[in-house]
Amino acid sequence: MKLDEIKTETAFNYKYLLKRIFPYIKPVMFRILIAFLLAIPLGLLDGITAFALKPYIDVVVNGNSYTLGAYVLTRDFLAMWIPPAIVMFAGIQGILRYLNTYLADWISMTISNSIKVDLFKKLIYLDSKFYDENSSGLVISRFLNDPDTAAKQLINSIKTLITSFTSALGLIFVLLYNSWELAVVGVIVLVCAFLPMALLRKKIKEVSNKNTVVGGDITTSFNETYTGNKVISGYNLQNDIYLKVKKLIRETFTLQMSLTKRTGWLSPIMYIIASLGIAFVMLVGNNLIISGRLTTGSFASFITSLLLLYKPIKTLGQDLTNIQGIFVAISRVFELFDFDKEIVDSGKKEVSHSPNVIEFKNVSFSYNEENEILHNISFKINHGQTLAIVGNSGGGKSTIVNLLPRFYDVNSGEILFDNINIKDFKLDSLRNSISEVFQDNFLFSGTIKDNILVGKKDATKEEIEKVVQASHLDEFINTLEDGIDTQIGENGVSLSGGQRQRIAIARAMIKNAPIVILDEATSALDNKSEKIVQKALDNLMKDKTVFVIAHRLSTIFNADKIIVVDDGNIIEEGTHEELINISDGKYRNLYNMQFKNQENLVLQ
Ligand SMILES: Nc1ncnc2c1ncn2[C@@H]1O[C@H](COP(=O)(O)OP(=O)(O)OP(=O)(O)O)[C@@H](O)[C@H]1O
Ligand SMILES: [Mg+2]
Repeated sequence: MKLDEIKTETAFNYKYLLKRIFPYIKPVMFRILIAFLLAIPLGLLDGITAFALKPYIDVVVNGNSYTLGAYVLTRDFLAMWIPPAIVMFAGIQGILRYLNTYLADWISMTISNSIKVDLFKKLIYLDSKFYDENSSGLVISRFLNDPDTAAKQLINSIKTLITSFTSALGLIFVLLYNSWELAVVGVIVLVCAFLPMALLRKKIKEVSNKNTVVGGDITTSFNETYTGNKVISGYNLQNDIYLKVKKLIRETFTLQMSLTKRTGWLSPIMYIIASLGIAFVMLVGNNLIISGRLTTGSFASFITSLLLLYKPIKTLGQDLTNIQGIFVAISRVFELFDFDKEIVDSGKKEVSHSPNVIEFKNVSFSYNEENEILHNISFKINHGQTLAIVGNSGGGKSTIVNLLPRFYDVNSGEILFDNINIKDFKLDSLRNSISEVFQDNFLFSGTIKDNILVGKKDATKEEIEKVVQASHLDEFINTLEDGIDTQIGENGVSLSGGQRQRIAIARAMIKNAPIVILDEATSALDNKSEKIVQKALDNLMKDKTVFVIAHRLSTIFNADKIIVVDDGNIIEEGTHEELINISDGKYRNLYNMQFKNQENLVLQ
């Protein structure tokens, strides 16, 4: 299943999504509770300054008396204490705000990180097919961005939701305290100002989905400029790639602007409606003041809280809109989690010894529904033998050997180790019994030693030395200043094809698995390197059961059996002597075209 075809159908199913994310929230529940409790006084304190204006103006400015419950407060008392009290409350609010921000960041990072860790574990175990079908950029962006959006914004939104809500409550209390008639008018108008926001939910979801796909494409192109750097320069593709990325970046611009076009008018409209509210309140307030039902202080306090109320209500509206985006992100995260593995690891058996017979029995296989790549393939190989696979390019040779460690599973038929289906073995046990040297040898960034240890983490110094010699790496390593501890890969020295190959051989050798898969590199090495690599391979193949996709004549000569694969069918099978004598045979043709010119190289 491809990621960009997913429709995020669960995005509106809030209950389901909360249930899914809950296991990540649960361990930090207590802190979340504290953060949310802190948010309550944080919001409520917003009303303090507005609240203090009434006694200040009425008593301190206009000289009226002021009662708070049973207490009568004098002018001097209020004039002296209101200013420091305002500062004190602001100080308390500041401390609360700091604690709350710290806690919220701590919580959201913790949640987001544990989602990422689990998600990475899910991704790294996914089938090869997933990596065939989905671009690196898309997977990277979904891996890095969605958990952040899901966790950070969720916590922050709930936090600001509570603060805004309590802030609004506090301010509305001040409004009501001063004049309930005006309060009703003011609040109704303000709430009306924020209704349009609710209408934009769907659009925001759509754009945020498209944005991820385009963002992924940009990352993929960027990755390609790294890995494909030489091809890009060699074929003068810079301009094409530049234009492609430019177009993608433009596309994000268009997407973003289409959203802004639809949402940008919200804010001004809201301001206008809110100002209408204030204008209206002033008109009504004027009458109340003249008729003596409202003091100047109350009016000033009222208008101030109404102005202050704009912010929390706006934030509430924004939060409610954001929440849609957050749930889209959560649903995308869990879609990745729900990706089904096709390679099921349900076997219980261990591959305890080198199998006496490995058999492909009527195996058919296709990478996708459209075309079958292997058709009803059957062959056997005995312990200690070497099977050479030859045939046309694209015929399915690499595919055959990819089925053995179950990078892919057969569509029909069976692969048997001593009559036991390989699906009955534990996957790691099966894979432990096979060493591979691939056509393109991927090495990790790190030292040469690190790369060899991939084959056996706990190898001793002696074991390493042995494989370094057997893979004929010693001569090369001795020329390096840091020897086997030389950094290679992204930030290290560059290696030649032959050197890479020999490191890969050493890595396979130290694994010391009873079965060896060798997808020989087609690229011709020079005479000397060719011979060294050949010797290294001979050492690797010693006493093993070997599947070799042969491009070298010497390998074929040494093979116990050769199978000729043509467009997914085995068309000939036998030893070199047998096959070469089939007049008009495919092998004979292939031999004449591909291998004969190597004769002098092997036989000299
Ligand atoms: N991951 C994949 N997804 C889909 N199709 C694939 C995949 N890998 C290979 N194929 C297709 O399967 C067919 C067989 O490919 P395979 O790599 O097995 O050929 P091959 O015999 O090893 O060729 P070569 O000698 O060039 O390495 C080809 O048509 C190829 O396009
Ligand atoms: Mg191949």
